Amino acid sequence: GTVSQDEMKKIVGYKAVDDYVKSDMLVGLGTGSTAAFAVERIGEKLKSGELSNIVGIPTSERTKEQALSLNIPLVTLDDRYDIDVAIDGADEVDPNLDLVKGRGGALLREKLVEECAKEFVVIVDETKLQKGLGVDGAMPVEVNKFCWKFVMDRIKGLPSIKAVKGCRAELRMQDGDKPYETDNQNYIVDLYFDEPLADAKQAASELLGVTGVVEHGLFLNMATVCLVGKPDGTVDAIK
Ligand code: A5P
Repeated sequence: GTVSQDEMKKIVGYKAVDDYVKSDMLVGLGTGSTAAFAVERIGEKLKSGELSNIVGIPTSERTKEQALSLNIPLVTLDDRYDIDVAIDGADEVDPNLDLVKGRGGALLREKLVEECAKEFVVIVDETKLQKGLGVDGAMPVEVNKFCWKFVMDRIKGLPSIKAVKGCRAELRMQDGDKPYETDNQNYIVDLYFDEPLADAKQAASELLGVTGVVEHGLFLNMATVCLVGKPDGTVDAIK
């Protein structure tokens, strides 16, 4: 039979915890609808006693609230950053396990937590697998609020961005007319393209060269394994 997308997310979220989280670990807790299932599983296994002495580091205020509601002990990156494993979803995954993340707005904290992790397990359903990055929706860039229009125009003018067919940039909004604000009180510029980024590495470095850009949603060379949930209810591990 076939399972729903939500069931695929739950299956990979649970499997990531079952395969990669052991007692006494410091665990990076991702953000989004898929990562929420991993957090749920950790809470469940702490409660049943199958796991003990887990400490979590959440990648967003949302995840922090979920983890607290499940009695998962938490610290921040300022307390500790020797993370054993981080588990998080992604918006797009290419064949090299390079990612687009941040459609849920949590990219800066996600990137910090995942850079600190010895193992970074990406959990997705198979709809997230892409041949190239930037084709399937927004490529988020977190920017300083101050002077955001100037920053957005500079982003649009970057050689590796403006060369991509159909490139456009939009300030992310919420409730219609208010700019969306991240957990770090910044704005998000969403980039859209009609074809994949030709050189994601170059785009990443050009983006970070713009004053006012805080971080971008390209997570290159970070994932150590990707678990992919499939419609038949099985999971593929890609390394
Ligand atoms: C949050 O900012 C994102 O990076 C999420 O990890 C990403 O959007 C995946 O979310 P879903 O699992 O809800 O698709």
